[in-house]
Amino acid sequence: MAHAHAYASTNHDDHAFMEAIGAEIESQMCRQLLNRTGLVNSLTLLRSAMKSHFRREESIMMAENYPYLFQHKGSHDYIINYVSIFISCFAPGREDAPAEVWPLLKNTLETHITKYDDPLAGYLDRSP
Ligand SMILES: [Fe+2]
Ligand SMILES: [Fe+2]
Repeated sequence: MAHAHAYASTNHDDHAFMEAIGAEIESQMCRQLLNRTGLVNSLTLLRSAMKSHFRREESIMMAENYPYLFQHKGSHDYIINYVSIFISCFAPGREDAPAEVWPLLKNTLETHITKYDDPLAGYLDRSP
């Protein structure tokens, strides 16, 4: 139950922080002329916030013997890889990433929360 409480509060703060960075990326993506350096900085910040958040979640899952750790961690790894590829699209000399990359990433993040984070929260709530 201690983990349930810790998870609920850090999860809320972490997700709010990542959403704020995501909103900044969203507004940058909507600009007519992309500021590639600004975008790379925001995406790099998002990736580092994700890595810290994912590490926290994974250590809780390990401590609680969570049965879906393997699948949940697999989704984390997929997301980090996706963001890394996205960042590399804005390297000097490369063409901009296709317009659909950002909406796809956002969708992947939303799906992760409903498919993996919410069931983990439910499991931790029920564990003694
Ligand atoms: Fe997660
Ligand atoms: Fe999460």
